[in-house]
Amino acid sequence: MLVFDRVDYDYRQEKPVLRQLSFGIHPGEFVAVIGANGSGKSTAAKLMNGLLQPRKGEVRLGTLNTLNREDLLKIRERAGLVFQNPDDQFITASVLDEVVFGLENLRVPRPEMSRRASAALRAVQMEAYEDAAPHQLSGGQKQRAAIAAVIAMQPDILILDEATSMLDPQGRQELLQLLRRLHRQGQTIIHITHHMDEVLAADRVLLLSHGELAYDGPPARLFSKDTIAGQPLELPFAARLFQALDLEVPVQADWKETIEQLWAMR
Ligand SMILES: Nc1ncnc2c1ncn2[C@@H]1O[C@H](COP(=O)(O)OP(=O)(O)OP(=O)(O)O)[C@@H](O)[C@H]1O
Ligand SMILES: [Mg+2]
Repeated sequence: MLVFDRVDYDYRQEKPVLRQLSFGIHPGEFVAVIGANGSGKSTAAKLMNGLLQPRKGEVRLGTLNTLNREDLLKIRERAGLVFQNPDDQFITASVLDEVVFGLENLRVPRPEMSRRASAALRAVQMEAYEDAAPHQLSGGQKQRAAIAAVIAMQPDILILDEATSMLDPQGRQELLQLLRRLHRQGQTIIHITHHMDEVLAADRVLLLSHGELAYDGPPARLFSKDTIAGQPLELPFAARLFQALDLEVPVQADWKETIEQLWAMR
């Protein structure tokens, strides 16, 4: 279990970024993290894998604690982070090297290494770009390669910080399908996104507002009239439709099914 226990963080003392942030994420959960620009999402992501340490409070992964230096290597192996800006991620000269690099660090045996690297590149439709240099790739291709490098490492927790921001609609759809598939196989996923339609793919949503937790619950309830008020959120299409029809947005809904039923009632 990943635990944030009353976490405070600031980059400069006079400007707190996260305040008393507490939540727990169980193995196998698919959690979306949303919030306005500057609300602290990327900061929270970096605290999750020990790139940053809390000023106050603790971040724990099972028995590991990001405040313990000797735990950090294990934490980074177990909590794989895909960065918001894919340029920050690359350290090697080719796409394949990038994926293999992480596996070498984990001391994965050679034959398995190449099997895992190929499977990860295939999963993000990047197998044709194995030998390409990262700077030759488009933004979306870089993002795909960065995702492949992290999923090949098979982390316990997969953390994606706006990893779909540069993908075209089909690329986003494919990534979302990949995430759902991994989730069905038991993968814990933390998906930071501004796309409300992606939020519906998650079991649970955390909404950050000025570094505090403003909502923690199922996606359907987030879009009901009471919780959405005052939050800078764009509603997903299905929720907009319900509100336009002046209907209460259903909690725990299978959206597609509910809309089909509504049409059938006409
Ligand atoms: N390296 C840094 N140095 C100083 N301040 C920073 C740094 N990184 C982030 N901040 C500040 O911390 C706050 C939270 O930033 P963060 O990147 O966590 O937000 P975010 O929710 O990820 O936003 P976005 O949706 O734009 O990605 C912002 O006010 C930002 O200016
Ligand atoms: Mg961010």
